[in-house]
Amino acid sequence: MRILITGAQGQLGHALQQALSGEDLTLKDLPEFDLTHSDSESQIVAARPSVILHVGAYTNVDGAEREPHRAMAVNAEGTTLVARAAATLNARLIYVSTDYVFDGTKSTPYREEDVPHPINVYGQSKLAGEIAALTGCPNTLVVRTAWLYGHAGNNFVKTMMKLAVEKPFLEVVGDQRGCPTNADDLAQALKELVASDLQGICHVTNSGDCTWHEFAEAIVRLMGLSIPVRPITTAQMGRLARRPPYSVLAPGQLGMVRALLPHWKDALARFMKESSRLASTPR
Ligand SMILES: NC(=O)c1ccc[n+]([C@@H]2O[C@H](COP(=O)([O-])OP(=O)(O)OC[C@H]3O[C@@H](n4cnc5c(N)ncnc54)[C@H](OP(=O)(O)O)[C@@H]3O)[C@@H](O)[C@H]2O)c1
Repeated sequence: MRILITGAQGQLGHALQQALSGEDLTLKDLPEFDLTHSDSESQIVAARPSVILHVGAYTNVDGAEREPHRAMAVNAEGTTLVARAAATLNARLIYVSTDYVFDGTKSTPYREEDVPHPINVYGQSKLAGEIAALTGCPNTLVVRTAWLYGHAGNNFVKTMMKLAVEKPFLEVVGDQRGCPTNADDLAQALKELVASDLQGICHVTNSGDCTWHEFAEAIVRLMGLSIPVRPITTAQMGRLARRPPYSVLAPGQLGMVRALLPHWKDALARFMKESSRLASTPR
């Protein structure tokens, strides 16, 4: 099985390279492979994969408000090109999407069949990508995940770990609730989904849910620190893009393929242990 990964140098891309290390992998990312260039389609066709893990994306949520055309070009039009290449090859397409396709007005977990209604440009561009993937390639699975963190690149966990040793206290948003997800756990699930015949939409996150404030508190305590972590509101935080106040994803189809992912607290503890091991390993 030849598997092509877009966004291979991103945080999930790195985790996928590890999880799929025994497979025949073709890795694609900027600058040689640009989803906004039409030759990305021919590059994929030339590589002849039987599975495409389309992970590459414009992921800066606030940046997307400033440059909506670029976010759309990468996430929506880029996915149209990937889906067309997948259809040409009769390949299986797995497109990774986001909890931010929902508006957060529910107070119970979002199901795979709930109607999306994004409230920011990033979510709109990823929803357009979902539609492009599902309509452009017959054998498509859209995998929605959330609040991702991995060892490559920057993310909330790494930011909190840095701030916790620099600041006397932390202030973190306490009125947004979601599902933190360890990229290694998601990559392992994606490996199993590659081999499955699931199609349509599948929610994959670590189990359980929390606010960003509760998440930060857990990070700081796992570091063995006792500094105060205070909740603030989304309005106080003053970010450019609106965020859904509630974007917990309910697992659905995943249960037909494997067990649910571990609880986010276990996944976080594992990540932080591995981070300190990597930091103390001589290069
Ligand atoms: N991060 C989250 O919290 C989160 C939550 C839910 C869903 N997701 C989805 O999960 C997937 C993986 O996210 P991630 O956190 O691993 O993102 P990431 O670290 O930002 O990785 C995305 C990769 O795509 C590349 N890319 C950007 N523009 C491109 C273009 N025009 N052509 C080709 N490649 C391009 C990036 O390159 P550069 O770094 O050079 O720009 C990067 O290597 C994405 O589809 C994202 O929408 C993420």
